[in-house]
Amino acid sequence: MSSPARILTTVDPGEGRRLSRAHAASDVSRVDLDGQWRFNLVARADLVTAGFEKPGFDDAHWAQIEVPGHWQMQGHGSPAYTNVRYPFPVDPPFVPDENPTGEYRYQFDVPADWPSGQAVICFLGVDSAFTVWLNGAELGWSTGSQLTTEFDVGSHLRTGTNVVAVRVHQWSPGSYLEDQDMWWLSGIFRDVSLISRPAGAIDDFFVHANFDHTRGVGTLRIDTDVPAVLTIPELGLQQVPAAGPHVLPDVEPWSAERPRLYDGTISAGGETIALRVGFRTITVLDGLLTVNGRRILMRGVNRHEWNPDRGRAVTAQDMLSDVLLMKQHNINAVRTSHYPPHPAFLDLCDEYGLYVIDECDYETHGFIFTQWRRNPSDDPQWEPALLDRMRRTIERDKNHPSIIMWSLGNEAGHGRNLAAMSALAHARDPGRPVHYEGDWDSSYVDVYSRMYASHDEVDAIGRFAEPVTADPLVDAHRRSIPFLQCEYAHAMGNGPGGLLEYQQLFEKFPRCQGGFVWEWIDHGIRQRTDDGHEFFAYGGDFDEPLHDDNFVADGLVFPDRTPSPGLVEYKAVIAPVRLLIETGKLTVTNLLDFDDTSPMRFLWAHEADGIAVANGELDVAPLAAQHTATVSLPALDTIPSESWLTIRAVLARDTAWAQAGHEVAVSQRMISPAPTRPFRGGELGRDLFDERTGLLTHVGATRVDGPRLDLWRAPTDNDHGTHGTPVESGWRALGLHRLTHRVIDQRWTSDGFALRTRVGPAATDIAMLATYHWTADGDALVLRVTVEPEGEWTQPLPRLGLRMALPAGIDDVEWFGGGPGEAYVDSTQAAVIGRYRRSVEELQTPYVYPQENGNRVGVRWVQLRGPANGVRIEGDPTFDLTVRRWTTEDLDAARHTSDLRPRDRVFVNIDLAQTGLGTASCGPGVLPKYELHATPTTWSVRLIPDKGHGVMARQRQGDNVLRTVQSS
Ligand code: GAL
Repeated sequence: MSSPARILTTVDPGEGRRLSRAHAASDVSRVDLDGQWRFNLVARADLVTAGFEKPGFDDAHWAQIEVPGHWQMQGHGSPAYTNVRYPFPVDPPFVPDENPTGEYRYQFDVPADWPSGQAVICFLGVDSAFTVWLNGAELGWSTGSQLTTEFDVGSHLRTGTNVVAVRVHQWSPGSYLEDQDMWWLSGIFRDVSLISRPAGAIDDFFVHANFDHTRGVGTLRIDTDVPAVLTIPELGLQQVPAAGPHVLPDVEPWSAERPRLYDGTISAGGETIALRVGFRTITVLDGLLTVNGRRILMRGVNRHEWNPDRGRAVTAQDMLSDVLLMKQHNINAVRTSHYPPHPAFLDLCDEYGLYVIDECDYETHGFIFTQWRRNPSDDPQWEPALLDRMRRTIERDKNHPSIIMWSLGNEAGHGRNLAAMSALAHARDPGRPVHYEGDWDSSYVDVYSRMYASHDEVDAIGRFAEPVTADPLVDAHRRSIPFLQCEYAHAMGNGPGGLLEYQQLFEKFPRCQGGFVWEWIDHGIRQRTDDGHEFFAYGGDFDEPLHDDNFVADGLVFPDRTPSPGLVEYKAVIAPVRLLIETGKLTVTNLLDFDDTSPMRFLWAHEADGIAVANGELDVAPLAAQHTATVSLPALDTIPSESWLTIRAVLARDTAWAQAGHEVAVSQRMISPAPTRPFRGGELGRDLFDERTGLLTHVGATRVDGPRLDLWRAPTDNDHGTHGTPVESGWRALGLHRLTHRVIDQRWTSDGFALRTRVGPAATDIAMLATYHWTADGDALVLRVTVEPEGEWTQPLPRLGLRMALPAGIDDVEWFGGGPGEAYVDSTQAAVIGRYRRSVEELQTPYVYPQENGNRVGVRWVQLRGPANGVRIEGDPTFDLTVRRWTTEDLDAARHTSDLRPRDRVFVNIDLAQTGLGTASCGPGVLPKYELHATPTTWSVRLIPDKGHGVMARQRQGDNVLRTVQSS
């Protein structure tokens, strides 16, 4: 058994393992085996070190490795990324002889007072197959990287010094079942412990805590393998038989909105296990997924486990950060794509309130390239391995109230073994529906799940107007179950766009119960260039022969968990209260499923030119879930400048996940429009323009490379469209990234200066005729740009705007317009009209793969300042703004953030518009209404000299509070 031969050739999932059981917080003796282990990596499984498992083996010359951790993240071998393709020949169940194999040894002490009786060694996660020895004796082997495995130590454990040895193979037959879209990383990456099992102790338990919403009654029964006693003081249960059933008339139910848990214990045979019981009932009722009798709307994300320095060996802090960030961004559901997470994450979901779809560690997507031949999902020889995975998922996690569904896995085609996994789940746990997306007929599941369905398709499904499936009975079943998008809105790079329109569909059709954005976090690996610049690596950065580039960086948070603009947009789109401001009144809609609005306060502010002129609090009586109420608004002064009323729903009190004052939702309405500017006229200096190019050279004392037409943006991942309809290739084929400019003529007129140009790409006759009309208005230089497309422009433009450059000393950007973060035409829900101030650096969004970013929408004016001078730009009425220390071409050429190095200019885009973002990196492109098409256009901006922010350092006191030190 101890040769690698069997573990590497059989489809069996393991040998010598204990039956899987619930993960438990028990008071029995335990030795934590995490720490620095001895480690040796060999390149092939047939090069393993003979006798390494023997206690006396001399490992002094071996390396040290941190457990839990991946060897590739600790300098042994390298990470490798593929999305769908197996990085080895598809030859199941065999894997290549070149099979990196890690040999681990750890010496630990068992104290003299260690209880008699059995003990187990528990591994929470080892990737991908491993054999375990204790004091030289083999205990067994296992596969199932993200699943718990326990081995009885039998008589091999002794008090005093023990040596555990583990041999881990990077590739195994189990690898065929673990083709998730993520880095291939190996080793003992979750905790290891030795746990005592006193005779008569509770080996396994299953908490059934149902809630009857019609009567408000909870029923608690706990299945245990030995009779156990239960105590939950709050419920008056003291040392009662755990089996119950205990009918509890006054329990408060658990939901993601109110995650009410009752703390208690069960005890038997000298062991006490801590319980956190949440009463809730999940059913599919009249075609709807209900929790405690109510339809819920899932505002979800797909979560892989990730830490940019540690890979999938996440820390407790990572897990807590994820949960807190999710709660703070109005997310209420998580799909644990595509494997059960570290069990501690589920404890947090119970405690803080997140609905969980717990997914089995199973994906075989790579078989798609061999037309699904020999796909394990439909090959009977794999059935035991697949049932083993499903069973271990359910047994480990079954006691979490947060888990509302089991998922069979992801992208594993279809077949009988999936049906068998579903049958197992239904039989073992009738209390939870079963999910799997891969079989669109949905014949053996309880929800109709899809990924990346377009808005139109979701609309059709919402109306029950989707095409019928082949078998009428199957079709009838599918129409009787709720619909969800287990993945949608691919958050790769800049985007996704079009979230609002999805949410509107989810809110419109009861059958559509929401979705899970793909995905939570970018799996970038933190690296440094030789000259010390940090960047995040992606596929190909470790010279993998086969890889899928940056497709691994597609999250709502950056690898270091900084929220991306996409997350901020999602938060706004899924806000659980809607605030509709109309003349004199506010209509509040509570979109929550259970809770009223009493945790929230409603604050208003009236701001003129971005400065508060009045504010206060609205008296909104607590509004029940799914109800709407209208309140009157205070009378507001008429203001002689543009003014906005902003209403914010904020937390009234501290919660477990955010402090009082945390913003939940925001809405705005313009109160006073900007007054018309009086025209003052003036003389336009002839020396302001370059004689040859006709371009502006100065604004006051500031040298500028004058504005000229520009259509290019550094393509986003969504423009690139790996798994959607790409637009980038069309743009490049046309040559929009290499426009040339030709002056047709320039002339001085009675009111100013006019420059006519033709702007077009090489090798074609299409072009934009761009005319720049300059006039003076007091100290303002007024530019009116007229653009006329010439020839046939058949595809949407990336952008339509002006590019200019300012001196590098410009470091301070203050604007009145949309902010504070970036926004694009199809992702504007988080942009609030206000006055903001940022440094040039702060305006950049560091997408792991550099691309268009940082656009501010609806800008009324901006002041771009250096110490001694600057430029104010005013819109007529608004423009889109980006400010960078590098050009669009630099951004386009960069492959990592560290490639972007400041030039000696600051580049400013003053745009009429950009095309939307869409989500074509995987899914639908830009919705037609957000596409920018070439049509004859005119727009205007004003450039005004500015004194600058002063010679002393600029000081920032946050948005709307401006304390600029003026130069004397
Ligand atoms: C889905 C898949 C995910 C991920 C995503 C694209 O098809 O289920 O794991 O690959 O596409 O990022």
